[in-house]
Amino acid sequence: MVVKVYKTAEEIGKAAAAMYAAQVIKKPDSVLGFATGSTPIPTYKSIIELYNEGVIDFSQVTTFNLDEYSGLDGTHDQSYRYFMMQNLFNHINVRKDAINIINGNSGDDEKACKEYEERINKAGGIDLQILGIGNNGHIAFNEPADYFPNETHTVKLTESTIEANKRFFNSADEVPKYALTMGIGSIMRARSIILIATGSAKAQAIYDSVKGNITPNCPASVLQLHNDVTFLVDEAAAAKL
Ligand code: GLP
Repeated sequence: MVVKVYKTAEEIGKAAAAMYAAQVIKKPDSVLGFATGSTPIPTYKSIIELYNEGVIDFSQVTTFNLDEYSGLDGTHDQSYRYFMMQNLFNHINVRKDAINIINGNSGDDEKACKEYEERINKAGGIDLQILGIGNNGHIAFNEPADYFPNETHTVKLTESTIEANKRFFNSADEVPKYALTMGIGSIMRARSIILIATGSAKAQAIYDSVKGNITPNCPASVLQLHNDVTFLVDEAAAAKL
């Protein structure tokens, strides 16, 4: 595990984008994992800049996103599909049929999860996966639990996550109560992982993930067992290290 500390969110975005550029240069048909949340936005801005400068060509890549809310159509402005189209995919030359985001509105979440895991495997697994982190140490929507869930599955969101994510909705009542998420195994099978975090609200989760025991009470702590993981954090998120 490598931990790098930066002064600004913009610098983290540039560093993470450079890792995506390096990955696609090394392997033009890479399988890239993407995340939502506010933390990756500067990364996506930098990736778009690199694309506009002709540094990255996404024409051969396949993408997988970590998670999606249950019950929201991909056209809903708070769905993660909508977020990804607006913040990244509409601005780069990724093929639309190479974009994979779990369908949270199929009416059969279990089946959607199973199919998604199969699609990741069929694509040969993920080469490079970016992660944000929840204030409670969750990665994707793998909430603190008694065990590490392996494959893509449905989850009931915790009050803490609903509280943190309500800022994007009109009220906490509108935040979906369930989500579909890649499992800890799906994430750990990615060949390289970047975790990004900014701000003091993430300081405890970063401490627990890097220095704490490996426990499903802090899902991100499992990353200590991965052989290619880089944390890019700002000083506030690194404050307890
Ligand atoms: C959501 C997402 C996570 C993300 C987390 C943190 O719960 N499912 O993938 O890491 O929020 O979001 P933010 O970056 O906005 O703090």
